[in-house]
Amino acid sequence: MELAPRTSSVLRLLLLLLLGLSTGAVTARPAEEGKEVWDYVTVRKDAHMFWWLYYATNPCKNFSELPLVMWLQGGPGGSSTGFGNFEEIGPLDSDLKPRRSTWLQSASLLFVDNPVGTGFSYVNKSDAYAKDLATVASDMMVLLRTFFDCHKEFQTIPFYIFSESYGGKMAAGIGLELYKAVRQGTIRCNFAGVALGDSWISPVDSVLSWGPFLYSVSLLDDQGLVEVSQVAEDVLDAVNKGLFKEATQLWGKAEMVVEQNTDGVNFYNILTKSTPMSAVKSSLEFTQSPLVHLYQRHVRHLQQDALSQLMNGPIRKKLRIIPEDCTWGGQSASVFQNMEGDFMKPVISIVDELLEAGVNVTIYNGQLDLIVDTIGQEAWVRKLKWTGLPEFSQLKWKAVYSDPKSSETSAFIKSYKNLAFYWILRAGHMVPSDQGDMALKMMRMVTQQD
Ligand SMILES: *[C@@H]1O[C@H](CO)[C@@H](O)[C@H](O)[C@H]1NC(C)=O
Ligand SMILES: *[C@@H]1O[C@H](CO)[C@@H](O)[C@H](O)[C@H]1NC(C)=O
Ligand SMILES: *[C@@H]1O[C@H](CO)[C@@H](O)[C@H](O)[C@H]1NC(C)=O
Repeated sequence: MELAPRTSSVLRLLLLLLLGLSTGAVTARPAEEGKEVWDYVTVRKDAHMFWWLYYATNPCKNFSELPLVMWLQGGPGGSSTGFGNFEEIGPLDSDLKPRRSTWLQSASLLFVDNPVGTGFSYVNKSDAYAKDLATVASDMMVLLRTFFDCHKEFQTIPFYIFSESYGGKMAAGIGLELYKAVRQGTIRCNFAGVALGDSWISPVDSVLSWGPFLYSVSLLDDQGLVEVSQVAEDVLDAVNKGLFKEATQLWGKAEMVVEQNTDGVNFYNILTKSTPMSAVKSSLEFTQSPLVHLYQRHVRHLQQDALSQLMNGPIRKKLRIIPEDCTWGGQSASVFQNMEGDFMKPVISIVDELLEAGVNVTIYNGQLDLIVDTIGQEAWVRKLKWTGLPEFSQLKWKAVYSDPKSSETSAFIKSYKNLAFYWILRAGHMVPSDQGDMALKMMRMVTQQD
């Protein structure tokens, strides 16, 4: 496991100059360039996982006084070092301009491209892709063990896992394994909790609510409601029978029925329309058309052309260690395909185990998300066996204001013992992209800073 830290602020400066960006024009840049390191960890034979760490840059606080947050992207096959970093919470946006609401001002950030094959991660043999959540989690244990062994300065810092979409399912599975590893002493870290954003904990609960949700906001008529509800029942039926690959295919069908009946509503934000997919087409490594369709919907939007050019251009130059024949996103279709049988499996019981173990669990969801809508999240929460649930359910929510000077409600929150739920207003599936200030505030609240 090669692990040589590399710092890079000089390189980044060079990069800015090369791209013709005047560093003088950058106003919000912190006085001091943050330290960054990145590397690969070989997590299994033929399976190499890429990670990228930014040390927190806060004018008043040393990184050692701030938490460490790992960010996990969805898909499966979406890149955390690419999408999460440059489109959501990292220090720079995809134009390499400073992001005002970057989480780096309140935490060190660890982006990991997982499962292997995602982003700059790669496999050398096609049988090395992960096929289930257990492999995803055990791969991550190798990565985290290596990371914390080599970066002892983070062993005592509170470590949180934040996630989005399918990343939420991975965060739950990884969180439980990490909890066990810390107890057994095999990984030395101060594990402090998981945050599941618009998460894939029980996807069928969202499919079942698509009809009523869309109907209630004038995006389905009576006939459309009947059609969407019918195909949702088919998905449920397949899940109940344990036919998960079939359920995945039916999910794809359900999405098409929604699309046809809503004139193409955007699954990631119901107030917008889905944009036609950019030229991807035949470069895909698999040909089963429903899966291709699903892949395009779930992963392709996370690596559209501009981001792909950034990652495969200036960023790979800066990183220097990416193998020449490894393309960012080049294996993501195979990542998705290999997880086909896992896609629709609910993991509510894993969340229950986390809660029983006393791990802090935060659930957050964007009001305008359709793909895993808030009604669906509430539905699986009601199925938890956790003993605190009755008290949690009886609480009244509280309003949260991201700007203390404004009366505009940014979110609602309920929290009881180690479970918290954030209803994020005016956000779709990608909460930090849509509501950067509120997302930052939520991260600060979850990590006990606000
Ligand atoms: C920040 O914390 C690290 C680790 O505790 C320490 O080595 C370093 O000296 C600190 N830096 C400053 C500027 O206080
Ligand atoms: C593994 O894959 C990487 C990326 O494609 C490549 O650079 C490397 O040479 C491969 N290693 C072996 C042993 O095949
Ligand atoms: C876990 O949540 C509880 C309740 O909100 C809070 O008091 C505690 O500080 C949290 N622990 C961590 C490590 O975030």
